[in-house]
This record gives sequence, structure tokens and C-alpha cells, in this order.
Amino acid sequence: MARERVISAERQNRDNDAVNFALRPTRLDDITGQQQVVEQLRIAIEAARKRSEPLEHILLDGPPGLGKTTLAHVIATELNSRAPKITSGPALTKTSDLMSVLTNLEKGEVLFIDEVHRLPKIVEEFLYPVMEDFRVDYTIEGGLGGRTISFALQQFTLIGATTRAGLLSAAIRDRFGMRYHFDFYDEKDLTTILERSAGLLEISASKDALRAIASRSRGTPRVANRLLRRVRDYAQVRADGEVTIDIVHDGLEIQRIDRLGLDDLDRTYLTSLIEVYGGGPAGIEALAATTGQERDTLEDVVEPYLLQLGFVIRTRQGRQATEHAYKHLNVPFKARTPADDQADLFS
Ligand SMILES: Nc1ncnc2c1ncn2[C@@H]1O[C@H](COP(=O)(O)OP(=O)(O)O)[C@@H](O)[C@H]1O
Ligand SMILES: [Mg+2]
Repeated sequence: MARERVISAERQNRDNDAVNFALRPTRLDDITGQQQVVEQLRIAIEAARKRSEPLEHILLDGPPGLGKTTLAHVIATELNSRAPKITSGPALTKTSDLMSVLTNLEKGEVLFIDEVHRLPKIVEEFLYPVMEDFRVDYTIEGGLGGRTISFALQQFTLIGATTRAGLLSAAIRDRFGMRYHFDFYDEKDLTTILERSAGLLEISASKDALRAIASRSRGTPRVANRLLRRVRDYAQVRADGEVTIDIVHDGLEIQRIDRLGLDDLDRTYLTSLIEVYGGGPAGIEALAATTGQERDTLEDVVEPYLLQLGFVIRTRQGRQATEHAYKHLNVPFKARTPADDQADLFS
């Protein structure tokens, strides 16, 4: 398995789940950022409650660590003060797995399916009538082609989350009545989230120290909270526990995280794009080979933030480093010439 990255937006084994849980907002009012999503949901929840109807199914999409699971919990709490039932695409390998989940749902409950893009096709198709009519069409094997029984379920709300909306079929996407896209957070919102976390964890930190952590958090609350904990460790071991801006700089330098939040893997990616492929365009498979990483790792956890920073662009021919990337790495920029394009045709 690849080494765990401090700045990875993915949930990690080393993460202290109890701490993460404690840092999770539990009500819509506690959520920082994503204000449009929050406002629309507030209205939809209120309306559903007034009509005593279930809330429409909701699809949440966006990069890892931005609060999709958190929001699913918040919605369930706001709707009926209960935790959602939780499962995931890869956990539902056959229709019977989903059957047992569905038949146990009570009226108005929330079912959360994480990584919906990884539902097996057969399970996904089984979900269509469930989402539309709260009806199950279940085939019992045996005899000549088996027998289909159909029965009604309690009305519930399905919340699906995905980091790869592009991989969802239109058929399932269209069955979600509400769809919300999560975007990276700005530094101001991340600083607010860090202030709240520092308060909950009883960490004494200056505002500019928290802002310095926010600017290295890749727009991602999960990363921000993790960096805060690493910096707290450093402050306790190397100083008096107070998180100052110097402590942030030194503590994160030890973790080899630079001032934009890039780590060794990001820099290796950029360096190979620039030095091995002359700045690109280079194919993702070629980059995976030269960096020694899985293609999925590069696409899921390295490229989104480099694209967001404008360090890399995607062209039809492949990935290309921009002048910003050269500058950040202190490498003199050499723009591509028409001759380079010609040379590519024959190389
Ligand atoms: N809007 C937010 N405000 C405050 N904290 C947040 C917010 N979104 C996410 N977090 C924090 O980030 C962590 C990761 O969020 P999570 O919901 O697990 O992300 P996702 O499901 O999108 O990967 C949570 O533990 C929570 O503490
Ligand atoms: Mg999640």
C-alpha cells in the first residue's frame, strides 16, 4: 500500500475517528461554507416536514474530505433527529444485500449510500423502482426462470455520495430529485472551520497561525483538521503547546508540506511532468509509470488540487504543466513552440 499522505483528502486508518466525529458539525447552522447548498436544503427539509412527506432523494458529489458524509448525517438529524442508515456501493455486492437494508427502513428514515458510482450494475437497476415508487421487484430463483414478487417499502430518503459523478449512469443520476456539488473551500471558510476545531480540541492558536494552516489545506476541511492536529503535536513537543505562526511553518516543514500545501508526491508528479516530459502534454499512464503511482491515485488525490491551482491543465493530448508550476518549483519556464508540437508528431 502507498505511504499515507498527511495532506491526503481521503480518510486514513491513522485518523482518530473519535476526534473526527467530535469535529463534525451536527446541525445545518454549524456548517461553514457551502451556503447555497445549506439554504436550499433548509427550505426543502422544512417543506417536507410541513407536508409530512419524505424528503426527495439527494445526490452529493465532489472531491473527498469536503463534507458529504457530514452533510448526510446533518440532514438525517434535521429531518427526524435520527442517525442515517449507512452503507456503500462496494458493500452492496448483490441485490439481497440491499434487500435486507431496505426492508428494515422505517418511514422517513435516511439511507446513506457512499460511493454510489461503485454500485454493481445489477444492484443499481434494482434500485430504480425503489427510488421511484418505493417498490421492490424481487426475483426468486427456481423453476422456469424464477418468479418475481413485488412489494411496497416504507417511504424513505436516499442520500448518495460520489467523488466521481462522471461515472454515474444518467438513469440513476436522474432519479435523485436534488443534486448538490461540493467545491473546495476558500481560505476564509477553512480558517473559520479551524477556529471551531481548535475550540473543540482546546488548542490555543493565534488567528494568523490558523490562517497559515488553512492556506496549506488544499481547500479541504479534512486536511485542515489533520494539519491542525499535527501542528498541535509539534507545539506540545517542541514548544509550550501554543500554536503560533512559526510553529505552523516549522511543524509543516518537517512534514515536507510547502506553503501551498503540496507534499513530495505532488512535487514528484510536477517534476516528472516537467523534467521527463518537457512540461507535457503527457498521458496519465506515462505519468503513473514515471512516478511509480497508480493511475487512480494520481487522478483522485494528486491532480484535482493541481488543476484547481492552475499548475496543470488537461488537454486532449494529455497533462501539461503551466508557468505557475515551473515558478513554484523554481524551474525556468520554457514555453512550447510549434517545433515541439511537430517533433511530438514524429517521436
Ligand atoms: N462544512 C464543514 N464545516 C466544518 N467541518 C467540516 C465541514 N465539512 C467537512 N468538515 C470536516 O471534515 C471532515 C471530513 O468530512 P466528510 O463529511 O467525512 O467528507 P467527505 O464525506 O466529503 O469525504 C469531517 O470530519 C468534518 O470534521
Ligand atoms: Mg465520506
